[in-house]
Amino acid sequence: MAKLGRTLLTVAAAAAAASAQQQQQQQPQDTTQQPEGLHALMMSAGKEYFGTATETDNFGDESYQAILAYQGEFGMITPENSQKWEVTEPRRNHFVYTNADAVSEKAQDNGHLLRCHTLTWHSQLPSFVSSGSWNTTTLTSVLTTHITNVMTHFKGQCYAWDVVNEALNEDGSYRESVFYEVLGDEYIPLSFKTAAEADPDAKLYYNDFNLETSSKKADGAERIVKLVQESGARIDGVGFQAHLIVGQTPSRQTLAALLSRFARLGVEVAWTELDIAHDFSSSSSNGSSTANATQLEQQAQDYVSVVGACLDEPKCVGVTVWQFTDKYSWVPSTFPGRGEPCLWTADYKKKPAYDAVSRLLREAAANNTGVTTTSTTALPSPSSSQGAGVTTRGGSRGGLLAGVVGLAVAMFVL
Ligand SMILES: *[C@@H]1O[C@H](CO)[C@@H](O)[C@H](O)[C@H]1NC(C)=O
Ligand SMILES: *[C@@H]1O[C@H](CO)[C@@H](O)[C@H](O)[C@H]1NC(C)=O
Ligand SMILES: *[C@@H]1O[C@H](CO)[C@@H](O)[C@H](O)[C@H]1NC(C)=O
Ligand SMILES: *[C@@H]1O[C@H](CO)[C@@H](O)[C@H](O)[C@H]1NC(C)=O
Repeated sequence: MAKLGRTLLTVAAAAAAASAQQQQQQQPQDTTQQPEGLHALMMSAGKEYFGTATETDNFGDESYQAILAYQGEFGMITPENSQKWEVTEPRRNHFVYTNADAVSEKAQDNGHLLRCHTLTWHSQLPSFVSSGSWNTTTLTSVLTTHITNVMTHFKGQCYAWDVVNEALNEDGSYRESVFYEVLGDEYIPLSFKTAAEADPDAKLYYNDFNLETSSKKADGAERIVKLVQESGARIDGVGFQAHLIVGQTPSRQTLAALLSRFARLGVEVAWTELDIAHDFSSSSSNGSSTANATQLEQQAQDYVSVVGACLDEPKCVGVTVWQFTDKYSWVPSTFPGRGEPCLWTADYKKKPAYDAVSRLLREAAANNTGVTTTSTTALPSPSSSQGAGVTTRGGSRGGLLAGVVGLAVAMFVL
């Protein structure tokens, strides 16, 4: 019943967001597009969501908020930083949820689902963990206390948790984190077992980057899925971060084959942190740091390859972009010379990549007519609503309200 109550709230919030949006047609957004957003089209194509990372720093930006709150555009948000260990437990047994709660409240206000991120990760880890002198008993206690406390706090709010993040080196071997050094690979099943006990309804994911481009790393991720499964712990999904480079993104066929390989292991899959950056440091860029028409077109093709691969794999549940505007992308500061990786420009114009993804999804939605693309996963809700794609087909033509109704119907199917 709690779920039903939350669903009703979600629907009400969605309707409110929809009517607010309709009254904002004169906002400085590009109005040449159809009113259907990426999420509404994604649902119509039989998937669960199109989502974005966001953070409390962005909440005061009205132009940003107008897009984020548009129910048809996004159906899921992920806190970019505020659920990471250094924020949630900066000192041992001192838990801080202020920012993460604000992101979760934003999700509820806008009728978005929440992808929760992340628990066991070597980076953005407070020094009490990374520099502590631990033995097996003490680090096990610190790790399980962290997972249990954070997941219990957000219990019922998370569609999924990235339980273990980036445990692999590029050659597929285990990364030498404090967790691996003290506990060996056992820290991975331990994290999943602890997570399953803390929130039985959240999907539990392994999440990593460059699985798209390094076959050895993908081998390592497959080893991790089997390790957790063989331990008897629950793992529901593998998240492929998909931080990619324009012109170096694998083909749709290659990416779909990668997703299928993991789907065959019995887990769902998703693109969890998608962005596709221009490499302005390459000699051909001639020092420019703004993409020209050719580069924008290549970026559009690359986005279509990635999103298309999700459409091609029935067990791919959705796509999350790692911010939707270049204004707030992590890329330029983290990788000097790279930039402009998002679907919207820094001044909130939709790029050719947005239009191409929108066209792709509109076509997929129109194709999604006959039999529903029911997920073969036997896992519990909310992924079981995937079959609801058949009831949301109207969303591909009916615009915003159809998208909202489609979401409502899909959620009631739970
Ligand atoms: C681990 O360290 C704790 C605290 O220093 C100590 O009490 C415990 O005996 C140690 N356990 C093992 C297995 O060494
Ligand atoms: C865009 O930039 C790329 C890389 O510098 C260059 O190869 C290409 O010719 C340019 N295209 C246009 C239309 O300017
Ligand atoms: C690179 O930029 C310089 C200065 O703007 C220009 O003169 C030159 O023609 C450019 N070269 C190429 C290959 O685009
Ligand atoms: C839609 O169906 C047509 C005909 O089967 C196919 O060629 C096309 O790739 C499909 N489009 C999408 C986005 O699935």
